[in-house]
Amino acid sequence: MLLALTMATKYDDSFLLQAVHDSYSSIAKTSSAPEYASAVAQSFGYTAEQLAAVPIDSHMGLGCGNPTVTATLKPGEAVLDLGSGGGIDIFLAALKIGPGGIAIGLDMSADMVKRARNKATERGLFPPHVSFVQCLLTEPLPILSNSVDCVLSNCVINLLPPSGKNHIFHEIYRVLKPGGRVVLDDILAKEEFPAGIRDDMAQYVGCIGGAIPADGYRALLNSAGFKETLFVDSRADLNIYKTAAGSQSTSTSCCGPRSDSEAIVPVSSATISDTAAETQPITNSCYKPRSSTDKATVAVPAEGSDNLDLNHWAASYQIYARKPDDPAAPISRKVLKNWWDAFPAPSASSAIPRISPVALVDMLHSTGTAVTVIDVRSGEEYQSGHVAGSHNFAAQSLHPILAAFHAQFADASTVVFYCGGSNGRAPRCAGWYQDHLDCHSLSSPAICILDGGIRRWLDEYSAVTDLVQVGRTVV
Ligand SMILES: C[S@@+](CC[C@H](N)C(=O)[O-])C[C@H]1O[C@@H](n2cnc3c(N)ncnc32)[C@H](O)[C@@H]1O
Repeated sequence: MLLALTMATKYDDSFLLQAVHDSYSSIAKTSSAPEYASAVAQSFGYTAEQLAAVPIDSHMGLGCGNPTVTATLKPGEAVLDLGSGGGIDIFLAALKIGPGGIAIGLDMSADMVKRARNKATERGLFPPHVSFVQCLLTEPLPILSNSVDCVLSNCVINLLPPSGKNHIFHEIYRVLKPGGRVVLDDILAKEEFPAGIRDDMAQYVGCIGGAIPADGYRALLNSAGFKETLFVDSRADLNIYKTAAGSQSTSTSCCGPRSDSEAIVPVSSATISDTAAETQPITNSCYKPRSSTDKATVAVPAEGSDNLDLNHWAASYQIYARKPDDPAAPISRKVLKNWWDAFPAPSASSAIPRISPVALVDMLHSTGTAVTVIDVRSGEEYQSGHVAGSHNFAAQSLHPILAAFHAQFADASTVVFYCGGSNGRAPRCAGWYQDHLDCHSLSSPAICILDGGIRRWLDEYSAVTDLVQVGRTVV
């Protein structure tokens, strides 16, 4: 019944996902057209002041609204942005929620996430305050239930395949705290699309072909549990994607479709490949008119539909809904299920060797080895008993400070990492440090993991006072 309210295409869900992934990954890697991005952003309501407050490459003319303006974000709130792209709305949200708040952007594209993380790093914004996490919105979100005050999304839900549209509203409802709100900017269909639009993949990745009517959208929200919803037609000009591109000498990307000559290669599995965009670079040409005589738009799509009047078929809407209050429901203060999702995964190639406790004792007692031992557990865990002389750097805060960390221990010939059992935090931190060294072509120090972590160390040496310390922190 619900899916009947969406418009079926001839493509299956995994094909649509891969096509969207490849298109936006390509944009993330190639787009740098600030004038185009700014023209589109201003047309959808971003003020010059807002645009000056965010990193210039955090927006690429991909949005269809300005959700943080109407989201009434307050200091200390937890905000989630679905399909965060280059991060513009997360950067604006971070300004409103302040340093005590949590802003998390989710996106399927590793290239988009990398771009947003780079911009965040430049601004000195790090997890847990500001995080960007790679994930599919068509799968369970990596977010705890009842943990988010406000869910935002800007021109993304239309890109989800039919089953994903149904799924995401249930996930939004699950992650919102009772009384929490969702503020979506999205493209909605004004009427049933003819096959020329519905089945045109260029229109789909361009945020038009996957748009559904307001009735279908509302039904999906209602079925997820949202009782009261508000739909406001922003009356913005969707043809801006074409006119802004046409008036600028750029081949950059936008939310408009790619030229119809660009083939999208189907995938057979639901798994999204991050290498697909590498092997099949796509140049997004937006609605760039082919010549000055092509500039007129038409209501009914001709073959190729390059000159479609987008305003005839679709409109940008702001959609609001609130999860009903429930004073008895538990609220989660933690938002991300796994804190490490907010950081790059260590490179698979960095296989870090392990050393046994006895080998570490030999190194510590050898005069010729400058060995530094790093405990990556929390300060509390560290103080309850650690390798004597080890330094404490909690894993959650190590990644942003790797350069300073390296400078601090530049004289070490070997750095040994450990945690409780050396199965999670220690290999991750050791991998990050190895990646940092590789990235800067540094050949030392050597990096190891203490096998069995502090548990094995205490099993073997808890009675040896010069090998175990309690309490004192070495930094
Ligand atoms: C039109 S862009 C909007 C980006 C951003 N919200 C903005 O306003 O600049 C859509 C974004 O959603 C992401 N996206 C699309 N489908 C997705 C999915 N199924 N799961 C996760 N991210 C998705 C894309 O990678 C892309 O970054």
